[in-house]
Amino acid sequence: MPRSTVLPELAYPDISEAITRLCDAFGFTLRIRIADHRAQLNVGDGAVILIAADGEVYMRTAVMVRVEDVDRHYERARRSGMRIVLEPKDYPYGERQYNVEDFAGHHWCFSQSIADVDPREWGGNARRFVAPRAWPAAKSCLVSGVGEAYDGLARGPDRKFQPISNQEQTTNMKITGNTILITGGGSGIGRGLAEAFHALGNTVIIAGRRKHALDATLAANPGMKAVTLDVESRGGIRAFAAQMAKDYPSLNVLINNAGIMRPEILKNQQEDVADAEAIVNINLLGPIRLTAALLPQLRKQAHSVIMNVTSGLAFVPLALTPTYCATKAALRSYTQSIRYQLKGTTTEVVELVPPYVQTDLMGGASDPRAMPLDKYIAEVMEILSGQPAATEICVENVKRLRFAAENGQYDAIFNGLNDAMSKAAV
Ligand SMILES: NC(=O)c1ccc[n+]([C@@H]2O[C@H](COP(=O)([O-])OP(=O)(O)OC[C@H]3O[C@@H](n4cnc5c(N)ncnc54)[C@H](OP(=O)(O)O)[C@@H]3O)[C@@H](O)[C@H]2O)c1
Repeated sequence: MPRSTVLPELAYPDISEAITRLCDAFGFTLRIRIADHRAQLNVGDGAVILIAADGEVYMRTAVMVRVEDVDRHYERARRSGMRIVLEPKDYPYGERQYNVEDFAGHHWCFSQSIADVDPREWGGNARRFVAPRAWPAAKSCLVSGVGEAYDGLARGPDRKFQPISNQEQTTNMKITGNTILITGGGSGIGRGLAEAFHALGNTVIIAGRRKHALDATLAANPGMKAVTLDVESRGGIRAFAAQMAKDYPSLNVLINNAGIMRPEILKNQQEDVADAEAIVNINLLGPIRLTAALLPQLRKQAHSVIMNVTSGLAFVPLALTPTYCATKAALRSYTQSIRYQLKGTTTEVVELVPPYVQTDLMGGASDPRAMPLDKYIAEVMEILSGQPAATEICVENVKRLRFAAENGQYDAIFNGLNDAMSKAAV
């Protein structure tokens, strides 16, 4: 907790936006961030706390006051007729707190420190994080994230929460000091990730079929490396792995990002399934083959990561692209199995689950309904930086699809998505 006795708690609809804009405009720095619902900003020798405003009565702008004995304080406030909003409760970050509404409707949170808890003990991890200039949050700031368990606790007893990762790993995804291979790194999400990791000083090797796309990326990012690769080619992957071992013996991160997405209208195509075969080859067999070919090299490293790029459509399929969605669901399943198999080794397995992002994947590069690529990459890097133990990287925009089933909304979202597509196609 910040040292100040009195701390304003300001409610904002979007914590990420509030951090960026307040730091940009007023020169504040981020002290700590707790998932998507809470953050602390350093303000001179004091601090302000940002909370997610979501309409719940205790998620409103308030004043936090640190007290010596919170239970005695609570008794006094209760006797004087103040409306108690949250009863006193111990929180895992070492504070016992209660919330109250005063006679004018102002909210107060009274807090007693009961333990000196390092953020890492409740799943957080503070580190210095410098965003590249191209990212929206172009600030050097201290970022911290927490695990899913705290996410639920901190939001109050009745609140539903969505886990960020489904399995705890003992090793962490570091965002610096790596040698990273990114398939499909010559465009879209792959290029965005390549540039972000390159800007942080990692050795980045991009791979893909189109030499001109690789060359354009290298020209814009001096020092980045490229190798041509077709992940559809079984023999090509074998030769590629041998070349990687020779040219980049320190390779410790494989990002299986290359993919294609094509519509398939079964009523029209009769028995021709060439598109479906290509999609399975590239999106599913590609990562399986490349992982198998590079795993011996990855296993030699003190710490290595396999990151597989799936999709929100792995969770709720878009009927227009049936094989694409099936490959993404299959890749998710494969990712979970190999993560389990590699448990206890120095190789971590991570799933990146993009929402609809502005790229050329299926002509959506300028679709205003898709998430802008730079915003997506910035949010991913923020998650990787703040929650290095996360095994599933889900930005806010994808959570509706990712947690559709858990939230009991699968049918509604499946029908809504596909009915809207059918109407648009008419
Ligand atoms: N954009 C979205 O809305 C979205 C949403 C969810 C998931 N994703 C996933 O994100 C990943 C990246 O897609 P993107 O949106 O960034 O689209 P993109 O710009 O079209 O990127 C796809 C990349 O994959 C590479 N690739 C395709 N076939 C390949 C092959 N046979 N061998 C090697 N590389 C190959 C392409 O390079 P070459 O053509 O030069 O080979 C290209 O650089 C994909 O796995 C996609 O499914 C995207």
